[in-house]
Amino acid sequence: MFDVAKFLIEGHKRLQGEILVHGAKNSTLPILAASMLCNTETVLHNCPVLSDVETCAKILRYLGCRVIRSGGDVTIDSSGIIHSDIPDYLMREMRSSIVFLGAIVARTGRAKLSFPGGCELGPRPIDLHLAALRRMGVEIEEDHGCLNCSAPGGLKGAKIGFSFPSVGATENVMIAAVCAKGTTVITNAAREPEICDLANFLNACGAKIRGAGESTIMIEGVAKLSGCEHSVIPDRIAAATYMAAAAATGSTLLISRIDPRHLEPMIPVFEESGCGLMFCEDELKITAPQRLQPVKSVRTMPYPGFPTDAQAPVMAMTALANGTSVFVENIFESRYKHVGELLRLGANIKVEGRVAVVQGVPRLSGASVESPDLRGGAALVIAGLAAEGITQVEGLRHIDRGYEQMELSLAAVGASIQRIV
Ligand code: EPZ
Repeated sequence: MFDVAKFLIEGHKRLQGEILVHGAKNSTLPILAASMLCNTETVLHNCPVLSDVETCAKILRYLGCRVIRSGGDVTIDSSGIIHSDIPDYLMREMRSSIVFLGAIVARTGRAKLSFPGGCELGPRPIDLHLAALRRMGVEIEEDHGCLNCSAPGGLKGAKIGFSFPSVGATENVMIAAVCAKGTTVITNAAREPEICDLANFLNACGAKIRGAGESTIMIEGVAKLSGCEHSVIPDRIAAATYMAAAAATGSTLLISRIDPRHLEPMIPVFEESGCGLMFCEDELKITAPQRLQPVKSVRTMPYPGFPTDAQAPVMAMTALANGTSVFVENIFESRYKHVGELLRLGANIKVEGRVAVVQGVPRLSGASVESPDLRGGAALVIAGLAAEGITQVEGLRHIDRGYEQMELSLAAVGASIQRIV
């Protein structure tokens, strides 16, 4: 799909005002998949308007569900499931469509979908997903990038130990296990807030999940799930992105509709850079210093460590710091594609394997840059907001996957940014 839209940013402006954070993309996607298991209607609130969420809705409609959006509310009626495959064109639209695997098998007893394959962050293996589902009784044939799955005897509870706390694999197993025969115990489970949100949604539908948010999750299979009403948690990565925008432009911003607990892994980094953070219920007032201090070491880790999704936006802000910041990307193999583009804006960054060394510079200058992926694109917008002169950011299809009308949120706090199509 050729992407002609771009942001035109006139940078080096202070921001001021309030940014409302949208619902979490990485919570909405698995919950939409899980809603397939309910035999009555589900209503989700605070669902962000993002292309990945729309792709999920397309997949659900293809499978036979009725999906209706009204503002931030999405209603799903999955009583009429007629398919158990996801066509290639939909699998390609969204890498995380693998999270449908557990739901489709649990609902229909079989599933046919293509490998999500690699993406901008490097190879995206799904070995942990497949090994876990096989232990739960799913027969999986991998044939030229296509997965043919069936569970002739139905899904059964199993002990699942993950060698890595994979978010998606934990979600797939949770969804597959809620109506399986018997109990499933996941050890070394992912502990991200989105895992807890999925568990809260499923328990509200009648599931019996305990321990979500910890490393061991126990799921007792139940006979059926009924739809429920659920509000999606705030998007902690969108919040971190707008915090980084405030930091990079020397601004004071009010960032609201957040859950402060979910930002805890990132607070030390923003404080070390010299930002003042004041939390009050679901709001954060961030005050940036005139010039940021460097952050000695940012190591991305599974939750409750520093989130890999915040690495690129935070790197953009440290590009202007008064000293050297060091990043270690421990989660994905190649999540530094934004570095080349940041260099075009005048940043001074060296990458060696998983390590990126950022020498802060006194100023950035506007240039034409291309988003390599979702969070890399956000990093380029942040750098463009701080740079002197005009910055063009292309590849908005990436940014629109994870940020709801980013340019409107930023323009509302004084940024000179517009979408040119
Ligand atoms: C989820 O991806 C998020 N996506 C990602 O957010 C996020 O970066 C990631 O978790 C880590 O927090 C959604 O929730 C839709 P993983 P996921 O399985 O589930 C390896 C964004 O920007 N791995 O925890 O794919 C994998 O290669 C996106 O919003 C295996 O080796 O992440 C990676 O190195 C980007 N085998 C690491 O684990 C597997 O079977 C983390 O992957 C699965 C994963």
